[in-house]
Amino acid sequence: MAYENLENVKVEIRERVLVLTIDRPKVLNALNAQTMEEIHRVFTDARDDESVGAVIVTGGGEKAFVAGADINELAKKNSITGKETSERGQYILSRVERFPKPVIAAINGFALGGGCELALACHIRIASDTAQIGLPELTLGIIPGYGGTQRMARLLGKGKALELILTSDRVKADEAERIGLVNRVVPLAELMATAEAMARKILERGPLAVRASIEAVNSGLDMAQADGEFLEATLFGLLCASEDTKEGMNAFLEKRKANFQGK
Ligand code: COA
Repeated sequence: MAYENLENVKVEIRERVLVLTIDRPKVLNALNAQTMEEIHRVFTDARDDESVGAVIVTGGGEKAFVAGADINELAKKNSITGKETSERGQYILSRVERFPKPVIAAINGFALGGGCELALACHIRIASDTAQIGLPELTLGIIPGYGGTQRMARLLGKGKALELILTSDRVKADEAERIGLVNRVVPLAELMATAEAMARKILERGPLAVRASIEAVNSGLDMAQADGEFLEATLFGLLCASEDTKEGMNAFLEKRKANFQGK
C-alpha cells in the first residue's frame, strides 16, 4: 500500500492533487533523516500512482515551510557521515526536481537551509506574504548541501546566489518575488488555494506534454543549448505520435475542450 507508515509528513490527495505537508511544527518542520526518507517514499509512491497528477509541498503549523535540515542531527556529523548526508539529500531532492508531474512549493513561512533547497527543487514556488527564504548554512560553518549552491546559482545567477549564500541573509516574500526566487506572492490565507488552482490548470494540459516540458527544461539546463534543442526536438517528435497530441489538435479544430488520456 502506498503512503503508509509516515510519521513526519502528511499526505492528502484531493482530486488528483497530492498535498504533502512536512509536519514537525515543534521544530519548524526541520528535515531530519527520517523526514527526508519519508519525502522520498511519498514521491516514489506518487510517481506510479495514476490517481495523482500533481504535488503541492507545504509546511505544517503557522510559522514555517521548513526551517532547514535538523541541526540536532547535523551537529553529530563527521566528514564521512556529513558527505553521505549531503549526497542522500541531493539524491532525494533530485528525485523531486525530476518528478514527471508538476511539483509546486507552497511556502507558508520560513524556508531556510534545507527547506529553501527543497523549495528550489520544486518546479514552481508560490510564497505567502509571511514567507522568509534563505540559506543560513554559513552561520553554522557549513555550506548548503542539498543542491542549494547549484540550484540557487542556476535560478538567480551567480552574483545574487553568492550574495545570499555568503551573507546568509533571509529575503522576505516581496524581495524573493522581485529577484525571481519565487514565482508569486499571495496572502497566507490564499496560499493553498492559489497553489491548488495552478496545479489544476496544469492538470488540464496534456500530461505527456507536461512531463516532456519538465524533462526538457531540467535536462536542457545541464546541456549545451544545441544538445538541449536536440532533446527538445526529440521529445516534440515523440509527442507528435501520441494520442494526446491528436486529441489536442482535434479539440482545437472542433472548438471543444481536449480530453487528454496520457497516451
Ligand atoms: N533544526 C532543529 N531544530 C530547529 C530548527 C532546525 N533547523 N529550526 C528551528 N528549530 C527548533 C528550535 O530549536 C526551537 O526548538 P525549542 O522550542 O525546543 O527551543 C523550535 O524549533 C522553534 O524555533 P525558534 O528558534 O524558537 O523560533 P523563532 O521564531 O525564534 O526563530 C528561526 C525561527 C527559523 C529564525 C530559527 O528557528 C532558526 O534560525 N532556525 C535555524 C535555521 C537554520 O539555520 N537552518 C539551516 C539548517 S542547515
